[in-house]
Formats: sequence, C-alpha cells, structure tokens
Amino acid sequence: MGEAKKLFIKTYGCQMNVYDSERMAEALGETHVATDRAEDADLILLNTCHIREKAAEKVYSELGRMKPLKDARPGVKIGVTGCVAQAEGAEIMRRAPVVDLVVGPQSYHRLPAMEQAVARGERALDTEFPEEDKFAHLKARPKAARAPSAFLTVQEGCDKFCAFCVVPYTRGAEVSRGAEKVIAEARGLVERGVREITLLGQNVNAYHGHAGGLAGLIHGLADIDGLARIRYTTSHPNDMDDALIAAHGTCDKLMPYLHLPVQSGSDRVLKAMNRKHTAEQYLAVIERIRAVRPDILISGDFIVGFPGETDADFAATMALVEAVNYGQCYSFKYSTRPGTPAAERPQVDDALASERLQTLQALLTRQQSAIQNAMVGREVRVLFEKPGRLPGQMGGKSEYLHAVHVHAPHIAVGTVARVRIVESVRNSLGGVLV
Ligand code: SAH
Ligand code: SF4
Ligand code: F3S
Repeated sequence: MGEAKKLFIKTYGCQMNVYDSERMAEALGETHVATDRAEDADLILLNTCHIREKAAEKVYSELGRMKPLKDARPGVKIGVTGCVAQAEGAEIMRRAPVVDLVVGPQSYHRLPAMEQAVARGERALDTEFPEEDKFAHLKARPKAARAPSAFLTVQEGCDKFCAFCVVPYTRGAEVSRGAEKVIAEARGLVERGVREITLLGQNVNAYHGHAGGLAGLIHGLADIDGLARIRYTTSHPNDMDDALIAAHGTCDKLMPYLHLPVQSGSDRVLKAMNRKHTAEQYLAVIERIRAVRPDILISGDFIVGFPGETDADFAATMALVEAVNYGQCYSFKYSTRPGTPAAERPQVDDALASERLQTLQALLTRQQSAIQNAMVGREVRVLFEKPGRLPGQMGGKSEYLHAVHVHAPHIAVGTVARVRIVESVRNSLGGVLV
C-alpha cells in the first residue's frame, strides 16, 4: 500500500448524516486518513441533506466552490453522498462535471470499490436500494478512543409518507438493525470511552429489531456497564407505545428528554399532512410521559405555511405550543419538495408564512428561555465533554441536554458529576460542582 490519501467530509442535515460520515470515513480507512482541510484532500465528500430547498441548493453552490480546487489539483476527486445524492444523483452527474462519484445512503458499503473506480479515472454512480444490508458489509468499527457522546443508527427509512417530506424517498423503507448487532456496536463504543449513546432513526420508535421494540433495546443497552446515558431521536407520536412510555419512568439511564415532532396544532392541517394523529392524541401522549417522568424536557418540530394553512389553523398551532410548553424546538417554513404530494397543492403566501414563523418562534424562544432559566438553583448531573473557553473550565450536557459550563480543572472528559446551576446565560447554563 502506498502513502495514505487524504479524505475530507463535509456533513449537512441530521444526526444520521453525522453517523454515516463516521462510517464512510471508517469504510475508507484502509486507504484514506481524515483531514479537516478541503484544500489538502485527495477525496472530498459532501454528505448532503434534501429536507428543504435551501439545504439541497447548498450542494450546488458548494460544488461551484469546488471547481477552483479541482482546477488547481486535477487529481482531487469529488463525491456527493446522502439524501441529495439519492434524490438527484443522475442530475448531479449531468449538471456538475466536477463530481466524480455519487452514492446514496443505502450503498455506503460500496464506497471503497467506487473510490477505486474513480481513482482509475471513471465516474461512479450508485443510488440503488440494494438487497444486501449495508451494515453487514461495512467494515468493523476501529478501536481508537472517542468522545464521550456518540450516535448509533438503529433504524433507517420511513414508511409514514407525510405529505411534505422527502425522507421516505431518500432513505427508503423502514428497516431496523437486529438488537444483538446494535448492542455489540454499543459495547464497542463504550470500550472506546463513550458514556452516552443517542439511538438514531428517522422513526426510531418504530424500531422492531428487538422483540420488545425500542423499549426492549433500551433496557438491553442499559445493562452495559460504563454506559451512563441513553437517548433516542426522532420519534413519531403514533409509535410511542406503552413500553417506551413506561421506560421513561423505570430506566435510570434513559435521559429525561424527548424530541417528539408534531408539525402543526390543527387537526385539519395534520390530516392534510397525512400525520395520522390529532393534536389531542399528541397532547395525550405528552401527558402520559409526564405522568411517569414529570421533569422530562419536551422538544418538537413545527412547519408553518403548509398548503391550505389558515389563520385559524395557525392559531391552533400556537395553542398547542402553549399547552405543551417546549424546552427546545425547531420550526420551519414549509418548503415545497419535488415529488411529494403537498407540492401539487396551492401554496401559502410566502410573506404570510414568514410572519407566522416569526410569531411562532417568538413564543417558542420564550418557553425555551423560561425553562432554561428555571434550572438556576437546581442540581443536575453533567456529562463533561470538552474543556470550556475559560482556563479551568469544562463544558458538558445536563440530563435535559442543556449545555453547562463549570469551573472544574480536575474533572476528566467523560465524567458524570453533580452540578448546582448558578446562572443562565444566552445558550448555556453555568454551574458549580456539588
Ligand atoms: N422523522 C421525523 C423528522 C424528519 S425531518 C419526524 O417524523 O418527525 C425533520 C423535520 O424537518 C421535520 O420534523 C419537519 O418539521 C421538517 N421538515 C420536513 N420536511 C419539510 C418541508 N418540506 N418543509 C419544511 N420543513 C420540513
Ligand atoms: Fe418525514 Fe413524516 Fe417520515 Fe418523519 S414521519 S421522516 S416527517 S415522512
Ligand atoms: Fe436531511 Fe436526509 Fe437527514 S434529507 S434531515 S439528511 S434523512
């Protein structure tokens, strides 16, 4: 083997792409070492997101910036991976001659072979949904030490087909990884220093790789010594089954934080979105979770300006937000996605949608700040992840996923320690060791 080539990966989109980028770097690990400078790389991969128009457009502007890099060093190879690759692979090849390689999310195990073809001067495209399971063919994960917090994909794809969403098309049908495989991968991560694992899936609570569903998997993982914290994301309200709700009350390692998107508070809009639940059903799920875990922090996603959304529908969304009281939230203006059912419908005026988004975000920000400020005086447990900005300072996350900084010069990364919160600043909390 010659000298290792250099690999630069730029990751867009959701946590699953973060996990995938790690696995791709590992898959190429025999021939490539990572670099964080695109200018030095022999292979540049853009791991892309297709969820909203802006996200998808970024790819083409980024590819425009790649052109001079390639002119300066013609040997550089450029690849597009992720959800835009899946959705528009052939078109990318046509529109962007700088691109040598396009590979969709279900074919990452084929990346080393594709890279070899590209090194021989070919262009390579693979956006199939292959028969074989990529996880069975991806290289075993390396043994290098890692940061205390890690993502672990356990479920991929989506069968829900919300009327606005590209994910069922870019990630394919719902597939769960077997629990033994997941637990073995988790053990490996813990041996390498991981203390917190966030289980990932587009609909992670639809997980069926364990007889006991996601709750069964969580209880299995909780038995791993050295694993301190378990989280999961993203969940769909219709898949919050009894066992999973109960786990929030019984499993100490399962953190009191739940990302449960609802998208709208209007039943009419929810129906048009094909969400298959009402606002009341969503609120009932939240109530049941709070009954077993009163301190749980609820997070959500909203879309405003969905086709047909009226002032009354938007008012219903505001009312639902008032009823839930979110500790964290993401809200977006509806973005028309080609090939999705909602794209064909009459669209809401853009200025009106922007105005609604502002109104909603003002409320969500107020709720988030109030919940964060109310942490002052409370004791939390912090998983320390990295040194803070000031000398002797360490930064980490509370159970509720609030960023916390503490003066703690002798605390090691990966430690979980009791902290009393003494101040709340813009995007984090300050505390002292107890
Ligand atoms: N599987 C998750 C979310 C996947 S996408 C779920 O079911 O909730 C993440 C978020 O992006 C969604 O929750 C939604 O709020 C937002 N989103 C998806 N498609 C969108 C679109 N076309 N326009 C605007 N926001 C969108
Ligand atoms: Fe998209 Fe709906 Fe599936 Fe979530 S549940 S990934 S929003 S189709
Ligand atoms: Fe984006 Fe694909 Fe994730 S569209 S949000 S990267 S699943």
